[in-house]
Amino acid sequence: MQTFVTRDEISHWRKQLSQDQKSLGFVPTMGALHAGHLSLVKKASKENDIVLVSIFVNPKQFNQQADLQSYPRMLEADIALLSALSNVVIFAPNEAEMYPSGLAFEPMQLGEIGTVLEGAKRPGHFDGVVHVVHHLFALIAPDRAYFGEKDFQQLAVIRKLNAHYQFGIEIVACPTKRDPDGLAMSSRNLRLSAQERNKALSIFKALTFIKENAGKEPIETMRHRAILIIEEAGLLLDYFEIVDPHTLKTCADWQAEQLCCVAAFCGEVRLIDNMLCESVKLP
Ligand code: PAF
Repeated sequence: MQTFVTRDEISHWRKQLSQDQKSLGFVPTMGALHAGHLSLVKKASKENDIVLVSIFVNPKQFNQQADLQSYPRMLEADIALLSALSNVVIFAPNEAEMYPSGLAFEPMQLGEIGTVLEGAKRPGHFDGVVHVVHHLFALIAPDRAYFGEKDFQQLAVIRKLNAHYQFGIEIVACPTKRDPDGLAMSSRNLRLSAQERNKALSIFKALTFIKENAGKEPIETMRHRAILIIEEAGLLLDYFEIVDPHTLKTCADWQAEQLCCVAAFCGEVRLIDNMLCESVKLP
C-alpha cells in the first residue's frame, strides 16, 4: 500500500497525477477507520481515478487534552483495511509535516455556524478543523473531497472554507452509516463498554422519536420527551437541539424539515449524532 508521510512526497505525486490527467478524490480522516469511513472511500473510488485517504489525529481541533490522548490510534490496522482497495493511497503525516513552521495560514471568520452546537460546546474546535483541512486541501488539491453527514455542522464549515479560500473543490456529502441497531458509526465507539454501547442506543431512539412524531405536538414538548429518552438511559446530555438544516438556527416551531442534533456523554465518551426530520402531515 502506497503510504506517504511527507509533504514533499505528496507534492511530487500530485504533480505526476495532474500530468497523467487522473482525477483525485480525497477522504480526510483521523484514523481508527470503520465501515463509515470505508463507505466514503468506496464512493470516492467509484467517482475518481485515485483516492487519497489522510490519517492524522489533529491536535488543534481537540479542546480537551484528555480527549486527544484517548483518541484511538491504529495506523497498522487502518493500512491493512485500506489495502483491500486497489486505487487508494494513504497520507499519514506527523505533526511537524502537517504544521511546518513558517507555513502561512490566514484564519477565517466562521460566523454563526461556528458558534452554535459543537462550536458553542467545543470552543476552538472548528478553528482547528479549518486549519488542518485548509492545509490538506492546499497540499492535495483534490477534485472532490468526501465528508460524512454525521458531522453535519463540520460539513457546513467545510463548504464555507472551500468558498472562502476559493479551493474550488467539489464537496461530497455522504449519509451517516449506522450499525444494524441504529448506533451511528464513530471511531469513538471503540471506547464504549458493551453496557455503555447499549445505553448509547438511546441517542438513536430519541432521534427516531422526533423523526416519527415531528409536528404532532409542540416542538418544545417533543424535544423534552426526546431528552428524557437519553437521560433515562443514563447519558449526560450536552445538547439536544432542533435546528434549521440550512442555517443551524434553533427552530421555534416545526418547519417542513428540521435537523435534530445531539451530543451526549456516555461514560467518558462524547458522542454526536443528527437526523433530518420531516414534519408528519396530520390528517
Ligand atoms: O472528521 C474528521 O475526522 C476530522 O474532523 C477531519 C475532517 C479529518 C479533520 O481533522
